[in-house]
Amino acid sequence: MRLDKLLADCKYGTRTDVKKIIRSGSVLINGVAASDPSVHVTKDDLVTVNGTPVSHRENLYYIVDKPENMLTAMEDKRLPTVSDLIPENIKTRGLSPVGRLDYHTTGLLILTNDGELSHRITSPVYDLEKRYAVTYEGAELTEDNVREAKKGITLTDTDTPVKLKGCELILTDKNTCELVLREGKTHEVRRIISHFGRSVITLRRVSVGPLVLTEEKPGMIREMTPEEERAIKTSVGL
Ligand code: URA
Repeated sequence: MRLDKLLADCKYGTRTDVKKIIRSGSVLINGVAASDPSVHVTKDDLVTVNGTPVSHRENLYYIVDKPENMLTAMEDKRLPTVSDLIPENIKTRGLSPVGRLDYHTTGLLILTNDGELSHRITSPVYDLEKRYAVTYEGAELTEDNVREAKKGITLTDTDTPVKLKGCELILTDKNTCELVLREGKTHEVRRIISHFGRSVITLRRVSVGPLVLTEEKPGMIREMTPEEERAIKTSVGL
C-alpha cells in the first residue's frame, strides 16, 4: 500500500495532510526518514510517525445499531441505506454489511471489508448464534411453541417447505419473546412468528455471537474494540 494511503487510512489526516507530515521528515520506514508519499510499504515494514508505530490495519470492523426504515444495502436510488451512516473518511474502504436486517428491523449489524469473517458469520456451518428481541400481536406464545421451535419448524409459506434448524424460543413477557437462531433464512424470525399464527410488531437483533448491543442507540456506528474483534473472530475459528 502507498505510504500516504496507509497514513490517511490510519486517520493521520487527508492525503494532502499526510503528504505534509511525510515531507516534514517525521515519518520513518524501518528507521529511515521517508520523503516520497507514493512509496509502497508492506506489513513487514515498520512505519513510525514521530516515533509512534503505525499499524497496518487494512481490515476494518464496525458495529452499527441499524435504525428502522433503512435498507441493509450500500446503495439505493430512493431509500436510506446503512452506507449513509459510514463516516466520509472510510467510505472508500470497501465496507459492507454482514448479512441482512429487514428494512423495519433494528439492531446489531456488522460492517467490514474482511470477506472471510463475513462469510463465516453468515454461513450455517459455523453455527453462530444471532439473538432477536421480538414484540408480537396475537395470543401469547406457548410452551408447545417453544418445544416445536426447539425440534425444528417446517415453514410451509412457500411452494417448497423449508425445514429450519432447531432454535431457542424464550417467552420473556406478555407478547414479547426472544429467538436465538443459528442460520439466516430470509425473514426467518417474521416467518417463525407467523407460522405460530402471530405477527411481528417490532424486531431487534440484540447480539451476533459474542457481540452484544446493550443499549438502543439507533444510527450509532463505531469501530469494534480490539476485544470485540478478537471475540468475533475466535467464535468462527479465525
Ligand atoms: N429475521 C427476520 O425476519 N428479519 C430480520 O431482519 C432478521 C431476521
